[in-house]
Amino acid sequence: MTHSLVGSGRKEQGVVIEEGWPGYDLELFNYPEHYRGDIDSVLIPHGVIMNRIECLARDILEEIGHHTLMVLCVLKGGYKFCADLVDSIKAQSHSTNSKLTTRVEFIRLKSYLNDHSTEDLHIIGPEDLSMLKGKNVLIVEAIVDTGKTMKALLQHVEMFQPKAVKVAGLLVKRVPNGPGTLPDYVGFVIPNRFVVGYALDYNEYFRDLNHICVISETGKLKYKV
Ligand code: HPA
Ligand code: MG
Repeated sequence: MTHSLVGSGRKEQGVVIEEGWPGYDLELFNYPEHYRGDIDSVLIPHGVIMNRIECLARDILEEIGHHTLMVLCVLKGGYKFCADLVDSIKAQSHSTNSKLTTRVEFIRLKSYLNDHSTEDLHIIGPEDLSMLKGKNVLIVEAIVDTGKTMKALLQHVEMFQPKAVKVAGLLVKRVPNGPGTLPDYVGFVIPNRFVVGYALDYNEYFRDLNHICVISETGKLKYKV
């Protein structure tokens, strides 16, 4: 049986997680044993992420889900969000008999060392994104904080002359001097803490954790480079 989604219309900018919210007690959730002690709390449980993604998918389908949608997944952190978002867009597109086809391309960026953003943002490829020309493009990013990455990426993508570009960001971090412009589709607005899990890493660790969690000081020390 299919059902249409109700509630949580967008227009507001995502689910706001307040500054003082300590997160859920880890011991109430299931997570990999090897991360015991390395995380402080569960900020967003996996099931909550999935439900929010269904809402974003519905909005995206309604607004830009015509004919072909070129999805540009920002690696590595965006791989889970992108996969789940595209799955949900496709599932809802089937149940509404829309004629949408989706195509996913990937772009790789790197700017973080330990828990700090480095000055230089590397776009590691691919060089050629000419397949975006004349298409509706959806950039899919796991996290937006300063907005520098998003801005650089938008400039990069514009060079390939897409018809229109929208950005979906699962998380927007409340940082001082945050992004001037928000993504078009926002999952959650979160406090300024370093988070891991659901493909977000700390020096390549924690991508295999399915909840979004706050890393502990022990975890930062243990995986520091
Ligand atoms: N976690 C992981 N990667 C990130 C973060 C974060 O909080 N902010 C920017 N990149
Ligand atoms: Mg990273």
